[in-house]
Amino acid sequence: MTLLDGRPDPFARITMQQRAPGRAPLALNGWLFSESPPRPRCGPGRWLTARSPELREVQSARTVLHQGTRTRHWIGIQVGSTNKMLLIRHRVPSGLLKFCHQAGVRLSSTAATEKHGLVLGVYKDGDKYTLTEEAGKFNKKTGGRLDELLQCASVTGKLSESRLLFGLTPEFPAVAVVGLGDRHRQDVDHAEDVHAGRENVRTAVAGGVRALREVRCSHVTVEPAGEPEASAEGAHLALWAYDELKAEKSRQKSVELSCTDGDSEPWRRGVHRAAGQNLARTLMEMPANHLTPTLFCQRVSETMAGLPVEVTIRDEAWIRQNNMGAFLSVARGSVEPPRLLELSYSGAASDSAPLAIVGKGVTFDSGGISLKPSNKMDKMRADMGGAACTAGVLYAAARLGLAANLRAFIPLCENMPGGRATKPGDVVTAMSGKTIQVDHTDFEGRLILVDAMWYAQQVCKPRAMLDMATLTYDMVVALGSAAVGVFTNSTAAWRHLRAAGSATGDRVWRMPLWRHYTNYMTDCELADLNNIGTMAGPGMCWPGGACSAAAFLREFVSEDLPWLHLDIAGTMENSADDVRYLPKGMSGRPTRTVLQFAETLCRDERPATD
Ligand code: BES
Ligand code: ZN
Ligand code: ZN
Repeated sequence: MTLLDGRPDPFARITMQQRAPGRAPLALNGWLFSESPPRPRCGPGRWLTARSPELREVQSARTVLHQGTRTRHWIGIQVGSTNKMLLIRHRVPSGLLKFCHQAGVRLSSTAATEKHGLVLGVYKDGDKYTLTEEAGKFNKKTGGRLDELLQCASVTGKLSESRLLFGLTPEFPAVAVVGLGDRHRQDVDHAEDVHAGRENVRTAVAGGVRALREVRCSHVTVEPAGEPEASAEGAHLALWAYDELKAEKSRQKSVELSCTDGDSEPWRRGVHRAAGQNLARTLMEMPANHLTPTLFCQRVSETMAGLPVEVTIRDEAWIRQNNMGAFLSVARGSVEPPRLLELSYSGAASDSAPLAIVGKGVTFDSGGISLKPSNKMDKMRADMGGAACTAGVLYAAARLGLAANLRAFIPLCENMPGGRATKPGDVVTAMSGKTIQVDHTDFEGRLILVDAMWYAQQVCKPRAMLDMATLTYDMVVALGSAAVGVFTNSTAAWRHLRAAGSATGDRVWRMPLWRHYTNYMTDCELADLNNIGTMAGPGMCWPGGACSAAAFLREFVSEDLPWLHLDIAGTMENSADDVRYLPKGMSGRPTRTVLQFAETLCRDERPATD
């Protein structure tokens, strides 16, 4: 270990062992430190906290050792010329670094490699920029140096503009200053259907934390920029990566995030919301051989452990006993057995009717006998996006303690062309008793959904039902990745969802649920319904395909139940920087929007149908 000023460390022989918390004494250069009892005790060789009065007297001290774990950071310091050693600890490294700075403690190189970054915002204000409140405070601390440097760097404050500044304070050796856009346009932008202020904060903060990760900051403190929840979301969504299957050296370095305001309630809410979306992204990204229907249930059960979510896994025999013939007709082409996963979260009064959420969980969609072309078929590992977002909603709701009752129903299976697979022309009977002629086995999503939806309506009397499914390619064509398409029989429920989308920035757009499309589906040679409809255009083209899929689903929904069908195929992937705070890859959209929707819907009366 070498000190920052290059001199050899006189305490180089010091070693520190980390042990099971609270037990055996810790040996540090001959001094014994006891972690037990956990209350701080003062004096040489004792535990102190950064607030211990003894430390106020430390005039010349040197950090000789820094060691951090995720929950605790220790710094051993030598005080003055005495050979006394103090050990201080703090929950967050910034607290320790701040103390060291105030007490004039020099940091050793080990401490220095734990580089701490700070994200600050600036608004565009006409031709100049203005500092946010937090940036203003920091500027004062630096004696106006921040402002000087920003002027040198020709900062304008326009959205996503970013500058990295180094060495401004020992507490934060790296600072990312990010543009938050026009100061006077930070509320709802009606033309864009989005809360501009919040979305700008997500985007700007995401750029800042990424830039600081690039320069190897292991801790980043983020300012709230007036929207602490959005700030937490932007930071946590931007740093997510799915690299658990890669060698350690090729993985993204982990970054610990905190807020300049501390662990405030809105910051924590943002963290939970982002965690829900990140869970959905991880599940969507996972390869299909690592996330079969059985493994999906296992992974989700493990993730929910310790949270107030009841998990019930229904096996193939149960699915058969419940006459879910449409669901089984998809599963039968694969050797992987299907599962119906039920999740239940109760955050409201027991007599408050729940929101039922149904998610399409095709863990791999090869198309079945109507096999898809091989180009990009790998992406069909994310054909369980609806299931993943549903799990993400329940996970975040439970972490947030959301005041809502939620019941989730997730049908899981593979769509494969095995020897026992359903063949075009086969007729199957759904749980509701309706018969379906399966003319194309790649239109499988609707088949597994209708049985889960029917079941959901029987087992809980929901106030409303919402389903999410990567259902049709037509949705990709219609809206691209700008918004999720929503088909609903309830304008009241739609208003809730639309408002939720503009608040979260993960937008929705209403699509038609007209009888016109129903006629395509009910005109059928051998059964009550046809799974592709009779509107086939030239080649592999089904005009209005997303709308007729919704019309098909509606045949299994009680007329007086407010219902929303979300076709999430278009937003499945974040391919070309579509959403700037999400890295490339599976998006986990619209987890945060549905979460927000659940919150407002369950606060209100049951919405009316039209
Ligand atoms: N899972 C797909 C829809 C999909 C496509 C989702 C692209 C995400 C991205 C669905 O089961 C399907 O295969 N639908 C096709 C059928 C067609 C190719 C016969 C569709 O909608 O085009
Ligand atoms: Zn398909
Ligand atoms: Zn599919």
